[in-house]
Amino acid sequence: PSNRTTLIAGNWKMNNDREEAKALASALVEALPEVPAGVEVCVCPPTIDLCCVSHKLDGSAVKLGAQNVYFEAKGAYTGETSVAMLKSVPVQYCIIGHSERRDYFHETDEDQNKKAAALIAGGIVPIFCCGEPLEVREAGTYVEHVVAQVKAGLTGLQVTDPSQLVVAYEPIWAIGTGKTATADDAQEVCGAVREVLAEIFGAELADGIRVLYGGSAKPGNIAELVAKPDVDGALVGGASLVAEDFASMVVKA
Ligand code: G3P
Repeated sequence: PSNRTTLIAGNWKMNNDREEAKALASALVEALPEVPAGVEVCVCPPTIDLCCVSHKLDGSAVKLGAQNVYFEAKGAYTGETSVAMLKSVPVQYCIIGHSERRDYFHETDEDQNKKAAALIAGGIVPIFCCGEPLEVREAGTYVEHVVAQVKAGLTGLQVTDPSQLVVAYEPIWAIGTGKTATADDAQEVCGAVREVLAEIFGAELADGIRVLYGGSAKPGNIAELVAKPDVDGALVGGASLVAEDFASMVVKA
């Protein structure tokens, strides 16, 4: 990924209360006094922990992301969080379209398109997730599946600079299972994602947009993954909950 800055993003999911989130953020800052050149790091705590983690990360090289957002600007949407609210923390990245949100909360491709548009308009970088379930992998139609998700989720967005968007390919069968896709599997789909990004946004923008891999990424496999030409980093679940493991992934990326 020569001309692209590698991104190692931690998705803490629903795992930390306030004290745990603060302790993890502090441990990470301590474990990563500086971030290697050419690598960017971000952590995405639960929404309720964003403010306290933001204070802990202040002055460090670790950036802050959210795990979810609602696309409407304001109003009677009980329980939701707007782009402007995230921006005021401040948050720089926001995960959207994670398979857990698509599956458990019935979010659609159309929802992702609206969320991505609202985030980009508000100056927050969406980390747009896509990926196939096991049955689609076994049927052999996984590239078509992911390409369709990317087209539906990202077509029509006003992207003028490649830094405004990140895509994460997360095969569902590799999430939290310990089964990592091989680096070649990751490359195959990340490469296909870049091709469809070129169709949507043009080759020049697509060449600069980061495409991450997610699914049991860990210190032992990160170097091999990011060595692939179209894999520009990782979206990390389990291993991001252990400061030393996550820091070691950053160093090895
Ligand atoms: O968003 C990250 C993710 O779903 C991968 O989780 O635990 O397999 O690294 P994990």
